[in-house]
Amino acid sequence: MSKRKILVTSALPYANGSIHLGHLVEYIQTDIWVRFQNMQKDTECHYVCADDTHGTPIMLRAEKEGISPEQLIDRVWHEHIADFKGFHVEFDNYGSTNSAETKAYSESIYRKLKAANLIEVRSIEQFYDPVKSMFLPDRFIKGECPKCHAKDQYGDNCEVCGAAYAPTDLINPYSAVSGAKPELRNSDHYFFKLSADTCQKFLREWTRSGSLQPEAANKMQEWLGSESENKLSDWDISRDAPYFGFEIPDAPGKYFYVWLDAPVGYMGSFKQLCNEKGLDFDEYWNAGSKTEMYHFIGKDILYFHALFWPAMLQHAGFRTPTKLFAHGFLTVNGEKMSKSRGTFITADSYLKQGLNPEYLRYYYAAKLNGTMEDLDLNLEDFLAKVNSDLVGKYINIASRASGFLLKNFDGILKKDYDGFGSLLGLIHSKAEEIHSYYELRDFSSAIRKIMALADNVNAYTDHQKPWQLAKDPSNNLQLQSVCSTLINAFRLLTIYLKPILPKLAAEVECFLNIPPLTWQDINSLLPDGRKINSYQHLMTRVDQKQIDAMIEANKQTLEPTTNAHSPARHAEHQQHAIAPIAETISIDEFSKIDLRVAKIVNAEHVEGAEKLLKLTLDIGEEKTRTVFAGIKSAYDPEKLNGRMTVMVANLAPRKMKFGLSEGMVLAASGEAPGLFILSPDDGAQPGMRVK
Ligand code: 2FM
Ligand code: ZN
Repeated sequence: MSKRKILVTSALPYANGSIHLGHLVEYIQTDIWVRFQNMQKDTECHYVCADDTHGTPIMLRAEKEGISPEQLIDRVWHEHIADFKGFHVEFDNYGSTNSAETKAYSESIYRKLKAANLIEVRSIEQFYDPVKSMFLPDRFIKGECPKCHAKDQYGDNCEVCGAAYAPTDLINPYSAVSGAKPELRNSDHYFFKLSADTCQKFLREWTRSGSLQPEAANKMQEWLGSESENKLSDWDISRDAPYFGFEIPDAPGKYFYVWLDAPVGYMGSFKQLCNEKGLDFDEYWNAGSKTEMYHFIGKDILYFHALFWPAMLQHAGFRTPTKLFAHGFLTVNGEKMSKSRGTFITADSYLKQGLNPEYLRYYYAAKLNGTMEDLDLNLEDFLAKVNSDLVGKYINIASRASGFLLKNFDGILKKDYDGFGSLLGLIHSKAEEIHSYYELRDFSSAIRKIMALADNVNAYTDHQKPWQLAKDPSNNLQLQSVCSTLINAFRLLTIYLKPILPKLAAEVECFLNIPPLTWQDINSLLPDGRKINSYQHLMTRVDQKQIDAMIEANKQTLEPTTNAHSPARHAEHQQHAIAPIAETISIDEFSKIDLRVAKIVNAEHVEGAEKLLKLTLDIGEEKTRTVFAGIKSAYDPEKLNGRMTVMVANLAPRKMKFGLSEGMVLAASGEAPGLFILSPDDGAQPGMRVK
């Protein structure tokens, strides 16, 4: 049988933010799968990744820090490497898209697409910041929402009413970089002609070919439309200088858009691995390759990976991915990760609390099932699962059995334990089933099975009662046999858990005096007379205090970072300029606004509303007022009950999807994340006028 050769990637994290627990859902999932593959005798699986380093946000971030983009991405690269290492995510190569290899492949793909007549230059009109002398990506333009008139909304959609629009629809637009009024200017842009028949036809076939999870395939069909519709439009792959990226060949001042060279980073990073290890790049990437290639990604970047990327590869003469494995987002305690709640947890802060990274690997594995469903990290459940399953059921087997063996038998295992008799035979018999769960990335089923086996082992222990046997030396033979069976059971379970718990497995190998465990080792038992080493604590329980401290630590570090698991993360992030001061008004104009002190007598979630809370306000009138406020991202309704704030009481009532809104509460927001409602000083009463 010939070797199975696999190339695996995880999405490339942006080089301007820290790795957090949301990112780790993907890297841990991929790492487990790769480790599982590499435990197989006839499989060679390579895992590469890189930092995604180009684009406007990175350029501006470096400028703000007073360093070059190269210095910024170098610093972040080291931070990312340390975070991954901390969680035992082991890449065969971790590169950067800002590499000679990625540049060469980006250029070569572009040239091939051009030769295939799939590149077109068109002049487009776009907002330009005359102060910064740069074209502005949509997310760097802000202004008043054309629908609900909320101020300071992004150029692509309104966070208050949810309307989507073009930046040119904004009222009083301003540059989020300099605050200047943007001008419309023309510029030549390069487009990849996805609307060409050849692309549409290819993608229609490819997205149906089994390379996508069913949910993803359906989504793609929606985006592609029917054959007569041909819904795909051409993709703008160029950006004008100044831009941190690769200049397009023969197009001075034009750069590849970051999403063009990002997936090419998979190739660039793999090429570096080939150079280092003597692997054959072409064997993996040429059209018709017999090797397998898998991309693990978040569901929010399916569009790039299931449409743009395969179309680029196909038309540049490369192979296309075997499969895309998309996963859902992380929630913490059932809610979106939140900086104010301290649940936007960085990888570094987790490790700094001394929390064992394998707790999280285990917990994520227990929840991952290979679908695109979101995954919830419930911190109470996390503690319970780690302490009762991992430590209580599995680790406990070794700590119970080794004590008797070391104390009474010098650590020597006895030969006639029950062989593959009932208990060990049972564990062995599940190998194929567990193997197939791993292969399908259904780690939660694998763990359920493994923990059920651990229950069997613990039941065996309770039945054999080694602690009683130990009381009478005439039982020594049986005691040694029971404990030897337990140590063998522990070894078999360790084989099953090794992809998830690699460091622990290495410690078990040391403890048992054995070479690295492979999947095949499930078919053998420890040889007669093997002497185990002294038992060191393999894993301690999680302490609630560590979790509390981690949450506290993350509440304090409110540094703005991109949230890799919210769809908005691709947005080009803006700088911290204050919004320009509005036009001058007279005192008479101001006094038209009737501001009142209001008591929030009730605050609740609104079903189906992403941003809104429903507030019931007492402003001293006979009846309370209902106001829908776009503050859900920043406030728990329970925390608002009873609080005093300020509202605009004479705003014309507005009919909203969820009901009538009879006014508006005032809240402050700026460029940094966060939204802050106002509070009057102590003593203010509902209904008092604010002047
Ligand atoms: O969404 C992101 O975080 C991107 N940096 C992922 C890029 S994946 C690949 F295409 F490079
Ligand atoms: Zn709006």
